[in-house]
Amino acid sequence: MPTITDTATTSPIGRQTPRIDGPFKVSGTAMYASDFNFPGLLYAVPVEATIANGRLQKLDTSEAEKIPGMRAVFHRRNIGKIYRSVLQPNSNGITDERRPPFEDDVIRYYGQYIALAVADTFESAKAAADAVRATYTEEKPNVNPDLKPDDESDVIETTRGRRKRLQSERGDPERAFATAPVKLDQIYVTPTETHNPIELQGTTAMWDGSTLTIYEESQGVFNLRSVLAQMFGLPRENVRVITKFVGSGFGSKLWPWTHCALAVAAARQLGKPVKLVVSRKMMFQSVGHRPRTQQRVRLGATGEGKLVSLLHDIVNDCGMLDGYRENCGEATPYHYSVPNLRVKWGLASRNIGSPTAMRGPGAVPGLFATESAMNELADQLKIDPVRLRVLNEPKIDEGLGVPFSSRHFLECLEVGAEKFGWSNRNPEIGSMKRDDSILGWGLAGAAWISGRSAAQANVELRDDGSARVACGTQDIGTGTYTILAQLVADKTGVPLNKIEVVLGDTSLPPGPISGGSLVTGSVVPAVFDAADNAIASLLSVATTTPGSPFEKHKADDLGFEAGRVFVKAEGPVKGVSFPDLLRRTNMRLVTGNGESAGTLDEKKPKVSMHSFGCHFVEVTWQPAIARLRVNRVVTVIDGGRIINPLAGRNQIEGAVVMGVGMALLEHTIYDPQNGAPINSNLADYLISVNADAPLMEVHFLNYPDTDVNPLGARGIGEIGLAGVAAAITAATYHATGVRVRKLPIRIEDLLTSSILA
Ligand code: MOS
Repeated sequence: MPTITDTATTSPIGRQTPRIDGPFKVSGTAMYASDFNFPGLLYAVPVEATIANGRLQKLDTSEAEKIPGMRAVFHRRNIGKIYRSVLQPNSNGITDERRPPFEDDVIRYYGQYIALAVADTFESAKAAADAVRATYTEEKPNVNPDLKPDDESDVIETTRGRRKRLQSERGDPERAFATAPVKLDQIYVTPTETHNPIELQGTTAMWDGSTLTIYEESQGVFNLRSVLAQMFGLPRENVRVITKFVGSGFGSKLWPWTHCALAVAAARQLGKPVKLVVSRKMMFQSVGHRPRTQQRVRLGATGEGKLVSLLHDIVNDCGMLDGYRENCGEATPYHYSVPNLRVKWGLASRNIGSPTAMRGPGAVPGLFATESAMNELADQLKIDPVRLRVLNEPKIDEGLGVPFSSRHFLECLEVGAEKFGWSNRNPEIGSMKRDDSILGWGLAGAAWISGRSAAQANVELRDDGSARVACGTQDIGTGTYTILAQLVADKTGVPLNKIEVVLGDTSLPPGPISGGSLVTGSVVPAVFDAADNAIASLLSVATTTPGSPFEKHKADDLGFEAGRVFVKAEGPVKGVSFPDLLRRTNMRLVTGNGESAGTLDEKKPKVSMHSFGCHFVEVTWQPAIARLRVNRVVTVIDGGRIINPLAGRNQIEGAVVMGVGMALLEHTIYDPQNGAPINSNLADYLISVNADAPLMEVHFLNYPDTDVNPLGARGIGEIGLAGVAAAITAATYHATGVRVRKLPIRIEDLLTSSILA
C-alpha cells in the first residue's frame, strides 16, 4: 500500500499539504464505485427514449431475448414496485427527477429510460438494450431556447417545495430606475451546460434478504440512503451506501438519478448483484445539467456612478415534471449597495431532463449577468470598473439587513489590481497591443455562500500512536480526506502519515453532502469536538485505570498537548505520550464523538456569511485570424482561513479553467426536431483542457471567519468559477469592441469586430 511521507508533528493547518489519498489514486489502488465486483454480478444497460415528447405505445423485446447471456428486459410491467421519494427532515430524500423510473408511459424528454436490459456481461446487456424496439405516439417537443416564465403567479411549485417568485425587494426600484440619470437595461443568456466528470455515474446494487447495499459515486451518501429507503419501502437502517472515491461530480452526483433505482430494482427482481454504469451520452440526458438562464438586468445610477436601482429578472428552464430553480439572484441583494432593488425569477418548462446544481449553481450564471452589467455601466459612465465597485461597496448585507461576518471585497480588488498591473490599462478599445495581438483587459467580482451543514464525526486515538477519524461525508476530488487528517493532526499531534481517514459510508456518523462548498466549514467543529472528547476520555482513563502514571490525579489536573498527557503543574516535558499511556493501561484505544449544527436553515441569521473574490483577465485577440485566447488570470479570494493552500489553490485554478470553458466553449445544444442534446459526447461538447488554461495566479487574503467555525475556514470549491465569464467578456469587449451577452462567445460574434485585419 502506498503511504504518505508527511511525518511532521507540528500543526499542518495552513501548511501546503499534498493529498493523503494521492498515492492511492496515482497507483491505481483507489476503488471507485464501479470498480467493485462481486460473484454472480450482472450488468444492466438502460434503453433510452428516442423522442422527447409523447407516449410509449409498444415495446418489442423478442429480439433482445435472443441475445446470448441475456437475463431479463425490465419495463413498467415487470420491474416491481418503486415508490416516490419525498423531502424529509434534515435535507433528506432529495432528488431532482421526482418521478420514479417507469412510473408511466409518458415520455417527457429525450433519453428518458423506457426499459432495462440485464445480462451476464456488459456486452450482452448492451446488445440486448440495442435490440429492444419501441414504438411511440410522438408530439413535437418544446425545447425552445427563448425563455419566458410559464406562470405569472406569485408562488411557484419547485422540486424543493413552493417558492415565492419575488426573491428580494427594497425601496421603489421601478420608479428609481425610471428617474435615474444613467440607465442600463440588458438581457444576459447563459446556455445549458453539462457536467462532465470523467468518472461516469453508476450503481452497483446487491440485496441480502431485505437489506440493500449499494456502491455509488455519490456526493451525498446519507441523502441517497434516505431516497432508496423510500423508493424500496425499507427502513433506513436496511440500506447501506458506500462511496470511497469520486472521480469528480460538479453537482451532478449530489442527488440520485433514475438509473440508480433501476439497478436496485433489477437486483431485487433477479436476486443477484447488478451493476449499471451510464454512457457518456446518457450523462447529457438523464443525470442533470446546469439549466439555460435568461436574465434581464436593469441598473440605474447617478452620473458619478452611485447605484440607485437594480432590477434582476431571471428565468431558467426546467423539466416537465421537476421544477429545478437556478438561484441566480443569490448574490444580487448583498453584492453592492443600492437603495432600490428587486430580484424576481420564474421557470420555463421544456422537454428536457431535470436540471440540477452545477458548480456555483445560481451565483455563477447570476454573477455573469450582474457583473457584466456593472462592467457595461462603468464603460457607459467612462469610469474605471474597479472604481465603480468601490463606489458601491455596502456596509452591511442590505438584503438581510445584517452585518457581514467577514467581507474584504475591496481588498480583493486592490490586491488583484496591483498584482495584475491594472494601472497600466488604456481603456480605449483595441488600444493595447503585443506582437500581432490586441490585448483585452477585464475584471469581475465573485461571491459565494458560506456556512455549515450539520455534521457528526468520530475520532479514535490508538495504542500504536495512530489516530482514526470517521465522518460520513465524501471526497469528490477536492481534498476532504486531507482536510480531515489535518484537523485531527492539529488537535492530537499525530502526524498525517499515522492518521486513517474513513468517509463515504452510511455506517459512519452522518456527514454533510459534498455540495455548496460547505464540507470544510462544516466538519471543522464536528471533528474538533470529537477529538476533544477522545482526549477527555484519555484523561479520564489516565486517572482511573490501574497502570497509569496519573492514577492519583484528577482529570482536571491533567493537560494534553502534541500527543502527550501531563500534569499541568509539571508541564508537558514530564508527561507520557498517549500510545504509552494506552499500552500501560492495556487499552487499544480511546474514542470521542463530535457534532455540530448547521447554519443554513437559520430563519433570522445574525450575520451574512459569504466568500468574496475577483478575477482580472487578459485576453489576446489576433484580428488576422479572428482568434481569441484567455492569456492570463489573476484571482484573489477572500475565503476565510485556508487550511490547505495547496489543495485550495488547485480548487481555484480548476474553477478558473472551467470559467474559460463557460465563457468560450461550453453549451449543450438541443435539436429542435427531436429534442435530443445533439453534442452529447466529449468530442462535440467542448470543455477547456490544458491547452486552454491561461497563466494563473491565485491569492488568498486568509482572514479567518470565526462565525463559520473556530478555525475561520470557509469552503472554496465553487467561488473560483463565479465572475470568470463576466471578466472574460469584459476583456473581449476591450480587445474587440464586441459586447457578448450570450454565452459562450462564438467566433461568429467576433466577426463583427471593427478590429479585424
Ligand atoms: Mo456543488 S454544484 O454544490 O456540487
